[in-house]
Amino acid sequence: MKRSFINRKIDEALAFAGRFQMRLPEFAYFTATDWRVKDLSRWREVLDLQLGWDVTDFGMNDFTVRGLVLFTLRNGALKDRRYRKPYAEKMLIVGVNQETPMHFHFAKMEDIINRGGGDFCMQLYHSTTEEELDLDRPVSVTVDGQARDLAPGEKLVLKPGQGVCYPQRLYHRFWAEGEPVLGWEVSMVNDDHADNRFHKPLARFASIEEDEPPTWILCNEYNTILTT
Ligand SMILES: [Fe+2]
Repeated sequence: MKRSFINRKIDEALAFAGRFQMRLPEFAYFTATDWRVKDLSRWREVLDLQLGWDVTDFGMNDFTVRGLVLFTLRNGALKDRRYRKPYAEKMLIVGVNQETPMHFHFAKMEDIINRGGGDFCMQLYHSTTEEELDLDRPVSVTVDGQARDLAPGEKLVLKPGQGVCYPQRLYHRFWAEGEPVLGWEVSMVNDDHADNRFHKPLARFASIEEDEPPTWILCNEYNTILTT
């Protein structure tokens, strides 16, 4: 993924969130230039927990087909006693027919919410003990407290305002239909390095071709960009 593309996608994400009057924490608006003059000792929580922006193509190099723009507003750390927050919150910008591929989380339970835009569509499967898709077992979830029973892989559509709760080890993939979706995640602590089980192995973070300077720093780049 080219740096110029990432720069543009975050510009677009800010504009898209703005359409819904969605204001983000102050550090969402810090450019790389802004970060370089900050007193980083005051921002340790953001840097250590890798809060902030993420633009990923899941290592597949086809962002419009498989990709996601995320902004992590808050998080904790399971094994770091400095950061005892047991919950996390993320914004997800989901394009039309742009897939976040099938995965589950070993430890994290999460609510996935449609805050506005088009239809937020998803497919859900239980995991077998071998961590394959269970094609036989129906899926029961709650959508804003309402019990919903789905056949394995049956499409679930969240309209703006609706949110679904995914328990641990429930496989999910999602995409938007009609218009892009301002998605949201309210969850237990998020650990992208150890807690994601993608059904087909892939990379959580994109590899980047530096064709222009970064306007924005991605959440996994604070260490490399701010120390050079
Ligand atoms: Fe997930």
